Amino acid sequence: MYITDKWEGTEYFNIQTFKFVEFYVSNAKQVVHFYRTVFGFKPYAYCGPETGVVTHVSYVLKNKKIFFVFTTPLSSTHTGSDWIKKHGDGIRDVAFSVLDVKKCYNSAIKRGAISNSSPIITNDKNGSFGCASIKTYGDNIHSFIDDSDYKGLWAPKFVKLNLPDVSYKNTQLILIDHIVGNVEWDKMDYWREYYEKVFGFSTFVRFGEGDISTKYSALKSVVLRSKNWKIKLPINEPAKGLKKSQIEEYLDFHEGAGVQHIAILTDDIIESISSLKQNGVEFLDIPDTYYDNLIDRVGGIDEDIKKLKDLSILVDRDESGYLLQIFTKPIQDRPTLFIEIIQRKGSQGFGQGNFQALFESIEKEQEERGNL
Ligand code: FE2
Repeated sequence: MYITDKWEGTEYFNIQTFKFVEFYVSNAKQVVHFYRTVFGFKPYAYCGPETGVVTHVSYVLKNKKIFFVFTTPLSSTHTGSDWIKKHGDGIRDVAFSVLDVKKCYNSAIKRGAISNSSPIITNDKNGSFGCASIKTYGDNIHSFIDDSDYKGLWAPKFVKLNLPDVSYKNTQLILIDHIVGNVEWDKMDYWREYYEKVFGFSTFVRFGEGDISTKYSALKSVVLRSKNWKIKLPINEPAKGLKKSQIEEYLDFHEGAGVQHIAILTDDIIESISSLKQNGVEFLDIPDTYYDNLIDRVGGIDEDIKKLKDLSILVDRDESGYLLQIFTKPIQDRPTLFIEIIQRKGSQGFGQGNFQALFESIEKEQEERGNL
């Protein structure tokens, strides 16, 4: 493994933040209820037949700086229907907030990005809204969104989403920390080069199979980041172990490469996880022995170890500080996408020290599904 922040790369165009994550789901109306009552998202915007969009519905939910968009096609001829048939519910688009969509798009295409949709700049009474998209691993895309001169709520044809109140515990989630892709065998470096070449992102962490393996399964990983550190995109590929890698299980059930997990940042993980558990989130179980010599491994921390143990929260430390993290079980019936909740106290790592404990827990579940 190495971690480096010395090489800044050459960022070819200005990428500011994650703008939103768009899910293709077969029944957005019901999925929206889950993300509201379980993860504490609030209704934000909507488009569909009522707003002049006849092909699909999209619900935008907001939680502090996080925007999730849930899109359901309204007919079998919509490309989203093919996507859902193949992959099940999952993430289709990791969208970036940019300045000047045409410039970003042309710049990306010039260096080898594959187009998904050319720039469309809409000018209406709310101002100017720009979007375009390029393809990435699997059947996924990255949209470029420029709404810096747009005064509307979300995007053209979207209206405010009004839904009846529901009750849930406030989850204190703040923003997207990183989004991880799983790619096919021996494809990790292909996609690393793609992000380096197309975006000018830097690779700042790399793990080989020796770093991340348990008795049975293994993976390799690289982490790419934007110059301003606001976009962090780890990419995993399976590695050879005694039995099937968890990444391979994902690839089998997602039927190809795709987003494995979204990590969401909180500034009080104990509060967040207590609320999320009360709201009904299922997290991976962590063996009690993980906490036996935790302080020897990570040194002094601000949190009460008993509380961390009760909530199955993991801790890892590197030279710049520590982090606390926890992982949900898959959030749909296919063992594909899951969510990580993370609190950073100095560390910019990804919890490398927890991989052993974590993988043992994931493998236990994989075994129960008969996929190990
Ligand atoms: Fe993560």
